[in-house]
Amino acid sequence: MTPAMIRPAIPGDAIGICRVHQRAVRLLCRGDYTAPQIEAWVGPRRPEDYIAALVDGERLWVASAAGRVVGFAGVKGHELTACYVDPDQGRRGIGQRLLRAVESVALTEGAACLVVMSSLTALAFYHRAGYGADQPRTHRLRSGMTIPCVRLAKRLV
Ligand SMILES: CC(C)(COP(=O)(O)OP(=O)(O)OC[C@H]1O[C@@H](n2cnc3c(N)ncnc32)[C@H](O)[C@@H]1OP(=O)(O)O)[C@@H](O)C(=O)NCCC(=O)NCCS
Repeated sequence: MTPAMIRPAIPGDAIGICRVHQRAVRLLCRGDYTAPQIEAWVGPRRPEDYIAALVDGERLWVASAAGRVVGFAGVKGHELTACYVDPDQGRRGIGQRLLRAVESVALTEGAACLVVMSSLTALAFYHRAGYGADQPRTHRLRSGMTIPCVRLAKRLV
């Protein structure tokens, strides 16, 4: 397959983004979270959520290969809101490239640092990308359920 292209998301990507989000969490996070936690996390996700995020000013970028979304990342202000890669496309550097794209957007828009509420699953990935100062936290899902996560930060300048 040709290397994935990294570009800003458009509303037409919403179905693909939703699919990647659900597959990544369901298949990659099951060693760190229970099935009820995973379903509370991504089960209610709908494509319209990502269109609403774009309208709300979240900068979403996608990795696209052969016309399909295979990963996405997002940033809003100084918060890294998402980074997910389809399990079939893992460990090919796509997550790292998405991260660089949204870090560059954040920097251009004036953010001096980025914070992320990392899943337990993604810690090694973020550490490798220079995020640190780990602070264990919980994240409250829309359903009200809380799941463990770790707050990480990275200086951009
Ligand atoms: C975390 C995630 C985005 C990484 O995407 P990816 O495209 O597979 O990552 P990359 O190929 O760019 O990895 C870059 C480096 O990060 C580290 N890394 C990535 N995944 C890792 C893993 N599962 N275990 C250990 N290190 C990992 C490695 O150092 C890797 O470099 P290497 O492959 O040369 O060793 C992806 O696995 C994912 O979607 N995970 C589940 C969802 C999730 O928890 N997302 C974060 C929400 S906050």
